[in-house]
Amino acid sequence: MVPQWIIEKKRDGHVLTAEEIRFFINGYTKGTIPDYQMSAMAMAIFLKGMTPEEVAVLTDTMMHSGAMVDTSSIKLPKVDKHSTGGIGDKVSLILAPLAACAGLAVPMISGRGLGITGGTLDKLESIPGFNVNLSEKDFIATIHKCGFSMIGQTGEIAPADKKFYALRDVTGTVASIPLITASIMCKKMAEGIDSLVLDVKWGTGAFMRTIEDATALAQSMVRVGKAMNKGMVALLTDMNQPLGRTAGNALEIIESMECLQGQYADEDLMNITMALTAEMLVLGKKAATTEEATGILKKIIASGAAFAKFKEMAALHGADVAALDDLSKLPKASIVKPFPAPAAGYLAKVDAESIGRAVLVLGGGRQKTDDKIDYGVGTSGLAKIGDQVEKGQPLVVVHANSQEKLAQAMAYVEKAFEISAQPVAAPKPIVARITG
Ligand code: URA
Repeated sequence: MVPQWIIEKKRDGHVLTAEEIRFFINGYTKGTIPDYQMSAMAMAIFLKGMTPEEVAVLTDTMMHSGAMVDTSSIKLPKVDKHSTGGIGDKVSLILAPLAACAGLAVPMISGRGLGITGGTLDKLESIPGFNVNLSEKDFIATIHKCGFSMIGQTGEIAPADKKFYALRDVTGTVASIPLITASIMCKKMAEGIDSLVLDVKWGTGAFMRTIEDATALAQSMVRVGKAMNKGMVALLTDMNQPLGRTAGNALEIIESMECLQGQYADEDLMNITMALTAEMLVLGKKAATTEEATGILKKIIASGAAFAKFKEMAALHGADVAALDDLSKLPKASIVKPFPAPAAGYLAKVDAESIGRAVLVLGGGRQKTDDKIDYGVGTSGLAKIGDQVEKGQPLVVVHANSQEKLAQAMAYVEKAFEISAQPVAAPKPIVARITG
């Protein structure tokens, strides 16, 4: 096969055969197809798209470029959740212990922050001692002991995606539905799970800016998962305003631990978390309906079991659990400054992208791949769309470790809010459920 003829075929909008896709991806992973030809292919796919059959072959080829996690010794239903990422998205930290308490096994391989979106691994690493780099053997042993474990991608899982993602990142080809589908699903399917729940976000703080694009991505991922005989459900959720009241690593751990103990300040965060976890319970046959599942989950939170389960998992990952019992032991910023409402009225906009940029410039995310995260910085006490506010009332509290970074962050925070004289309805946190 001749690489440039396959590129030309896709450039002209034709459908590639399974053999052509495998030849290209395997050649790129081995190094026989160079970056420049893969870049041209990525752009051709970006511009011309792929059929569902092509996406399925691309996903399968990328998944088989490396090892699969061997979960065969785990006899419980194995169900995971994946979010396409957002600002203040701490759902995994609450959902995974809840699902484990309800009798599921959750082998969760998570990511780091990407752009302005936060990452579960960075949040976990703000807990002193927490090791996200367990070997596969210890990952499986942790799931046997407490029902769930949260680690980073090992070098063996989907190496084709690792190489291809880095290339897409610098060739303007990230935001392609076929390429995102294959990239996410090849890693999730390599986890050895039975079912997967997807949280596909739309809005200013998400990869997908419109409901239409998010719907197309959700449908594409559900289709691929089903073709691989996995139970699949996707919820489409709002990411125009941040999720929850905090954004930033240790601050999000604090909010998550409060939620696990039933003390939550944000209805949307708990509604989305409960809805996603309930879908997991139904897919894992622990409940017949999502209503029944929600009842089970509420009892688990009220009993204190979910918080205890998180601490059990954290201890198995080497964490200092005392910092979870006394949250003041988590990393803290030296400067804590409220941002006052410039006028009285109703919040019409709380822009997720602006808050995400504020957290990034504070040092809560990375501007270069080797940047060190400042775990204590971020925002807390966020007011939400629809809230009635008085002039001077804090709309958010900024946590910074230098006056210079505080000033940079405040410039973004100022842009985040719009206040209306008229009452504003709060947006719906969950806009659709996609099963096929
Ligand atoms: N996350 C991934 O893992 N891959 C993508 O392509 C986009 C988001």
